[in-house]
Amino acid sequence: MSKNEKNYSDKDLNGMSNGELARLGTELDDVTVAYRKERFPIDNDPAEKRASRAVALWLGIGVLSAIAFLGVYIAWPWQYKGLGDEGVTLYTFYTPLLGITAGLAILSLGFAVVLYVKTIIPEEIAVQRRHDGPSSEVDRRTIVALLNDSWETSTLGRRKVLQGLLGMSAVLVGLVIAAPLGGMIKNPWKAGKLGIQGDGTLWTSGWTLTEKGVKLYLGRDTGALAVKHETDAGEHYSTQGVTRLVRMRPEDLAAAAMETVFPLPEEDVNDGDLYDPTRDVYETHMHSIHGPRNAVMLIRLRSSDAAKVVERVGQEDFHFGDYYAYSKICTHIGCPTSLYEAQTNRILCPCHQSQFDALHYGKPVFGPAARALPQLPITVDEDGYLVAAGNFVEPVGPAFWERKS
Ligand code: FES
Repeated sequence: MSKNEKNYSDKDLNGMSNGELARLGTELDDVTVAYRKERFPIDNDPAEKRASRAVALWLGIGVLSAIAFLGVYIAWPWQYKGLGDEGVTLYTFYTPLLGITAGLAILSLGFAVVLYVKTIIPEEIAVQRRHDGPSSEVDRRTIVALLNDSWETSTLGRRKVLQGLLGMSAVLVGLVIAAPLGGMIKNPWKAGKLGIQGDGTLWTSGWTLTEKGVKLYLGRDTGALAVKHETDAGEHYSTQGVTRLVRMRPEDLAAAAMETVFPLPEEDVNDGDLYDPTRDVYETHMHSIHGPRNAVMLIRLRSSDAAKVVERVGQEDFHFGDYYAYSKICTHIGCPTSLYEAQTNRILCPCHQSQFDALHYGKPVFGPAARALPQLPITVDEDGYLVAAGNFVEPVGPAFWERKS
């Protein structure tokens, strides 16, 4: 009969009990158990019950916290509420509650495991001599036996309640970690509110509204914030009468200058002769500013430069005099192409240094971007304000599978 390198045949190994294999494994691994003491040598020791209950308590807290986290994550009102809105108090608790319940779930599971090891598993000090090389058959068999022995020693096999709680809390804590990833899964093709063909989030922007016949002004961001009011009830902040976006006239921009503008629907205008101090348009203006594809660079070229412009076929009438409006969203991977260099008429994206030529329909001339910046058709209305003359004719931002241009 063939013997393996440690002189134990398969028959020898098969004839050994789990305990014998575990002991053999310890010896063969050069492990010396220097100290070992059972925690509860006497059966039915009340101290054992107390220790077990403490572990169960922490596991129970972990399970309840994980369930609470999932409940808050799914059912708590999370939609943004501004100051003074109905439900703002509940909304402000959303994030803290997620943090508290998730933290408690993970910490409780950690406490329970540490407590179990410290109070129930036998105390042991083992020392192993280090050696090199691959594991032999004997080592592999004995390590399995040692693991089995650890399971037996842990006494977890006969503690059904702890076993169940541990399993449940491990699964729930896993869910606590994995569930927030669900919030990142979105269908980019889901139809939006506009009810027009291709109204998915990647196809449209705030400028798409022009297709519904709404006049869209080029709104300049004033940076205005809520203002303080003194009333009999004390001081408070309000956005009433605060106008974040204002309409622009061509003369508001000097030659060789650039201004970032956002879509400002006619119904949300609150400036100039339409100013009404009792109106609150702040939130709608902020929605426009935060729209991921809304930012547009309005560039006023010097007249001498404007004379050199090469228009893109089909976009010859997209500009208004010396004024050109290009999407600010880089066609590489979507950073804001914030830098307009007036001397060279180049637009620079600071992320990966793509450069676009403002005199050449925003086509890329350097860097990783491969497509021109989409151009927004603009004009002025009867009152002399700059307005969008239509929608972009191509999707704004980086490339994606389905786009054709
Ligand atoms: S995102 Fe603009 S160059 Fe990369």
